[in-house]
Amino acid sequence: MKLPRITLVSLLTDSVALKHLRVAGFRHAVAATEYAYDMARERDICPDLATKAALLHDIGHTSWEKQGEWDFESYDYFDIHPIKGSERAHELLILKGEDLGKAREIALAILFHSGSSPINKNLKPTPFQKLIMEADDVDEKVDGEHHNVEIPLTAALKRLELLDEKIARFIDDCNEDCQDCPKI
Ligand SMILES: [Fe+2]
Ligand SMILES: [Fe+2]
Repeated sequence: MKLPRITLVSLLTDSVALKHLRVAGFRHAVAATEYAYDMARERDICPDLATKAALLHDIGHTSWEKQGEWDFESYDYFDIHPIKGSERAHELLILKGEDLGKAREIALAILFHSGSSPINKNLKPTPFQKLIMEADDVDEKVDGEHHNVEIPLTAALKRLELLDEKIARFIDDCNEDCQDCPKI
């Protein structure tokens, strides 16, 4: 029996996500999610899994502001947001009732999403993990500027609603059990 789907809107409107995703910016989270959806459909990877990982990929960010500006140098050197994000996303997903296999894969993709992180040394990413890295990179701008351009929460939720509708159609047509799905 399939579990009821945890939607992107239900994830972003959770108080934990609202608090932490705001730091790296809703715009970047939503843009990466849209890229991840397109890439997942092109590459035959589960779009439900890909969009959730992309939406939550920067949930581990903490504020690196200095006098109102993003302090990119300090962030680049000291940051551990993939580690924090992996744990936060996993906890959020489990609380929401996500499939345990999906929650694990999403947490791992978040852990490895940053190519410059020391934990990525010698990593051979899976196709899914690679997709999340790339969906993030497509939206990247010099000196972390992609974290500074913001959109209102209402606009972010509208864009996620559209993706949720597309993913619901995909899930309805999907005959795989998440546990042994080759698209993960
Ligand atoms: Fe990141
Ligand atoms: Fe990012």
